[in-house]
Order: sequence, then structure tokens, then C-alpha cells
Amino acid sequence: MTESVPVDSASTDAWKHLEGIAEDFSPDLRGWFAADASRAATYTFQAADLTVDLSKSFLTEEILGHLLQLANDVDVAGRYQAMIEGRHINVTEDRAVLHTALRRPKNGAGLVPPAGFVVDGEDIDAAVHHTLDKVYAFADTVRSGEWKGVTGKRIETVVNIGIGGSDLGPVMVYDALMPYVQPGIQCRFVSNIDPSDIFEKTADLDPETTLFIVASKTFGTLETLTNARLARQWLWNALSTTGAISDSDADRKDAVAKHFVAVSTALDKVEAFGIDPQNAFGFWDWVGGRYSVDSAIGTAVIVAIGPDNWREFLAGFHAIDEHMRTTPLAQNVPVLMGLLNVWYTNFLKAQSHAVLPYAQYLSRFPAYLQQLTMESNGKSVKWDGSPVTTDTGEIFWGEPGTNGQHAFYQLIHQGTRLIPADFIAVANPARPLKDETGDGHGVEPGQDVHALFMANFFAQTKALAFGKTADEVRAEGTAESVVPARVFAGNRPTTSILAPALTPSVVGQLIALYEHIVFTEGTIWGIDSFDQWGVELGKQLALQVTPAVAGDAAALEMQDASTKALIEKYLELRSNG
Ligand code: F6P
Repeated sequence: MTESVPVDSASTDAWKHLEGIAEDFSPDLRGWFAADASRAATYTFQAADLTVDLSKSFLTEEILGHLLQLANDVDVAGRYQAMIEGRHINVTEDRAVLHTALRRPKNGAGLVPPAGFVVDGEDIDAAVHHTLDKVYAFADTVRSGEWKGVTGKRIETVVNIGIGGSDLGPVMVYDALMPYVQPGIQCRFVSNIDPSDIFEKTADLDPETTLFIVASKTFGTLETLTNARLARQWLWNALSTTGAISDSDADRKDAVAKHFVAVSTALDKVEAFGIDPQNAFGFWDWVGGRYSVDSAIGTAVIVAIGPDNWREFLAGFHAIDEHMRTTPLAQNVPVLMGLLNVWYTNFLKAQSHAVLPYAQYLSRFPAYLQQLTMESNGKSVKWDGSPVTTDTGEIFWGEPGTNGQHAFYQLIHQGTRLIPADFIAVANPARPLKDETGDGHGVEPGQDVHALFMANFFAQTKALAFGKTADEVRAEGTAESVVPARVFAGNRPTTSILAPALTPSVVGQLIALYEHIVFTEGTIWGIDSFDQWGVELGKQLALQVTPAVAGDAAALEMQDASTKALIEKYLELRSNG
């Protein structure tokens, strides 16, 4: 336990000032822009390749001043420095938190902490790069076809089996970087213990060209190990049905050696499963599951996109890490966005936060961020065990634009709730297409479709910020009776994030940006953003309930009345079904 007692944000003067402002806060984005010609420029910031416009948010000079004071009061910068140096800021698990070390360049000059720094007796850079080199070498053998399945065929499908941080990151990045995937190699991802998941994902696969990666930090997760056994069973059955292998132990072992690799911190458990430790890639307890996408947990993606693209991906993270470390708080984008979220959550009582990527390839980004933000910051006690004195955590949700526009934007535009929203877009699409014919009603022949898409991105934040007044609605000749329904109040805050293109580096930058937003918020709330005790009880109870679900009468009797009745109903339906 090396962390000090957290500063109680709620007792600071800055917090009290913000509470005072929030009491009769009445945002006026139209007025603010009219009064200040430089508002857009003042609140637009750059972090590596990301241009971040906070001008349509609820910031004023006064509010920002107090938020920055709050960040200083809780020493966001100092705690970040403590994190990257390997102090045990994950207090409840007594661990260092070093995901930033996963993306430090090899032998980099001028690194802080310096290259070769040691934490808990381990040279962190050496350990990271040793594993990276091993994963890169493995990925190259699969990509080149040197790695062969049991019948001598090259691998065409990599199936990642993992859940939570051992799934959401790889899935999201694989989708995001689809244009970089080597032709002839595809990845699939199995996570749910619902047997339909692995059934559907393997149904059309050729076992001779399929490689499974069992990705589990602990190698003790029920879902992942069950799916890994099902995958092994599928492999053995499928290969023996075609006569590719016999049912002998030696043949089965050989099949596992050629079709299974693992990623884990628990290499002894990997070996016990039957996977050759030579084919296992390690990582460390100082990488949290939801912070592990840039560790060996990304092996499936490294196979798909190749080591060079992965290096660029890691460089993107590092660029934002350096921005976070070196940029004064007043221009520090992750800090500013974290502070803004605190303003919305704690003072303006926003109940959720939309993340709206205007990039189809980022369709899984909101789901990825849900684990990052909610598993990190959904806490009721501070890192010293005392109860929190403020609300904590943000509920992230979202879908890619423009799909969301035709689904839930109605509520964001005209509903009664405050929903701050992050809009994310790239200027250059990976798949530029033109609408050669147009529609004759405004969409001209030869229309660039990405430009049309981006017009929606710009239009939405404009509509949310500035709305449409009753007079403007009337001026369109609208019947008086429907004027109220067609008014847009505006003053719906948004942040716009614009990048040049969805490159590996930009994807890394976006992930690191949100990691440090979560860090900033967690520091203000005084919580340990790196433990996840809240998922443990359900796991324990699932094991306790399993015998009852299997029909064990004594185990059934031990359940509470509701659970018992539900299990009995399930058993009745199951036997009748
Ligand atoms: O459900 C909690 C959790 O521990 C996550 O934090 C983690 O990402 C996930 O389970 C998977 O854990 P593992 O990689 O150890 O299988």
C-alpha cells in the first residue's frame, strides 16, 4: 500500500465553487459563441493527431478555472507520474499499474522513467520487449505460412477465446483496423459461455486451417476455459472424423500443439491445459485486463495486421502518454475531457455519456469503453477504503453514426435528460466511394459518400448545440399547434474529435486518450480505478448455483426463495423442451 490518503475533492474550495455555479447554471451556447469570436479556437486542442473541439461543451473560463484547480488539488499530474514509475497505485491488489510501459519504444532515448527502469525487481522494458519480440516472431510464422496445422496446411482463421479485457480490446481493434488485415487471414472472437457463441463461430471453419488463441490473464476464467475445452473437443472431433488424426493421445497432443497457443500471466495453468509453454505469451499482473489490449492479449490482431502495423499502433498510445505526461493541465486533452466529465456527472447530474463514432470500423469502440470506464470507475469506496463522498463512474453507451441518428438521437435532441456526447470522426476514409448517380434531390452525381457522412457529423453537433427556436420554426411556415414539438432547445453539449484517418496509430491514440480520461476522473473521485472486486461475487455464486441448476436437490434447497423458484421453472422448461 503505497498510495497516500486521497484528497477529498468534495471538501475543496474548487468543488464548492463549482457547486455554486451549478445551482443556477443556465448554459447558453448561442450566446457564448455570439459574445466570443474566438471561442472555437480557445477550446480546440491538439493531442498527437487528434483535434479535439470542446467549444460546444459547457465550459466557460470560470468553470474551467475551478476544474483545473480541482485537478491540481488532487494532484492528477503527480499521481500519473507515480503510475508510470510503477508505484503501487492499485492499492487493493497491491500492484503497480504499468500499461503505459507496454508501448514504450525499444531503447528509446529520453524516456521517463528512463529506459531499463526496474519495478519490484523486474526490468520492465526488457520484459515487455522480450515478449513483444516473441509474439512478433510467432505472428510472422503464421502470416508467412511457416506455421502449419497438423495436416501441413497454413493457418487461415485465428479464433481468439477470451472475455472482458481479453476479448473486447482485440475485437474492437481488429474491426477498427480491418483494412490492414492480411488477405487470407481472418480472426474470429469467442467470448460468451453461451454455447451458441462457439458453435456459430466454428460451424463453417476448417479445423486444418484454424488456430485458437486462448487469451486469459488469470487462465482461471470459467467462460474462457470452458470455451477452450469446447474448442479442443471440436478440433479433435473434426480432425478425427476426416481421418486427419487418430484418437491416440499422441495425435491429440500434436493437434493441440499445432492449433492452440495461449496468452496469460499464469503459464503453469497454460501447461496444465496441454498447451506447450513455448507457444504461450506472457504478461504481468501490473497490466489490468481492460488495459491489456496493447499487450500479448492482442496476439490475434498482431497476426492479422502484422508487427509493423502493431508497432505503429503502440506508437500512437505512446504519443498520447507523452502528451498526458508533459502537457500543462490547461491544454492537456485527457485531463480536460476527464474534468469536463466530472463537471457533467457530479455537478450537472448527467446520468450517462454517449460515444458516437462516425466510423463504421469503430463500431465496437463504445462497448470497449464500457468496460474501460465502468469496471474502472464504478466504485463506492476510495482507495483507502473510506466511502466515496461524490458520485463515481460514468455510463458510456453508443453506436456508430449515422445509425444512432435513426435510433436514439431523438432523446438526445429533445428529451429531458442531459447526455453529453463525444463525436469521433476521421477525415480520410479507408474506403472512399462515390455515388455515381446521385438522387436528383440534392445528392449530386459523383457525390463523395464520406463527405455526406461527415456532413451528418458536423450537422448533429451544430443542431445539438444551437437548436432551433420557436421563431425559426414559425418562419418555416409551421402550423402553430406543432411549433412546440418542432423546437430544439439546443444547449446539448458535445465534444468533437477529428483525426486524419483511422490508422493503427490513431486507434492507439484514441484508446490511450480514454484510458487517461478514466484515470483523471478516478483520481478526482479518489478511487482505485485498477481493481474490479465488483465482478467477483457473481462469479462465486455462479459456481455455488451450478449444482442446483444441474438438479442437485440439496443445492437447490440452499437457494433463496426467488432463485430456487426460478431454477425449478428452468428445470421444468428444460425437461419439457
Ligand atoms: O470480469 C472481470 C475480469 O476479471 C476482467 O477484468 C477481465 O478483463 C476479464 O474478467 C477476463 O479475465 P481473464 O483475462 O483473467 O480471463
